[in-house]
Amino acid sequence: KTERLAAILSRSPVLPVLTFSTPKAAVETAKALRDGGLMVLEITMRTPQALDALRAVVEEVEGVTVGAGTLLEPEQVQAAIAAGADFLVSPGTSSRVLAAGSEAPIPYLPGVSTPSEAMQLAERGATFAKFFPAGPAGGPAFLKALIAPLPDLHFVPTGGVDASNAQSYLSLSNVACVGGSWVAPQDAIEAGDWGRIGSLAKEAAALKAR
Ligand code: 3PG
Repeated sequence: KTERLAAILSRSPVLPVLTFSTPKAAVETAKALRDGGLMVLEITMRTPQALDALRAVVEEVEGVTVGAGTLLEPEQVQAAIAAGADFLVSPGTSSRVLAAGSEAPIPYLPGVSTPSEAMQLAERGATFAKFFPAGPAGGPAFLKALIAPLPDLHFVPTGGVDASNAQSYLSLSNVACVGGSWVAPQDAIEAGDWGRIGSLAKEAAALKAR
């Protein structure tokens, strides 16, 4: 599963974090992101329509790898797998969700924001973690400081990442890719502005991870 997660996270420099209120918006957004060059997506489980949105993207949009995000309960892990998710993401690490995610047949990316949390994950054999909320928790300087003491952990900084600071995260040797909602802004999704999402995706896809 670690190799599968590594392969997923190395597919694109930016992992769009997406919240949908209709499956149709999800399908159109996923197509625009894919056509712009971002093939891996995280759909947050924050709306009542989130599972339907995820299922629709899995069934209708070819060539994308779809993660289920904001997983806070073990039951959500099972539901996301049933809906066809390719991987799982949480903003933090709780023992119940960590157990459910670790036992799942698909890769799981738990979240951390401190060295202690990172050590606890490393102790369990994890090599990847979401770093959330990246900006408020300390930004690129914080992650850079973890390279020496925790050389085997790689991070997906998310939360306050945008076009202006993505490259400073991506230049770090312990960053796999960055996550963020800026490539598919909520107002663009609501307005059905797939062209804008496509061009934001194109710009993001041109960023380079180390
Ligand atoms: C997440 O769940 O990962 C965040 O809400 C994304 O943060 P952003 O909106 O600041 O990109």
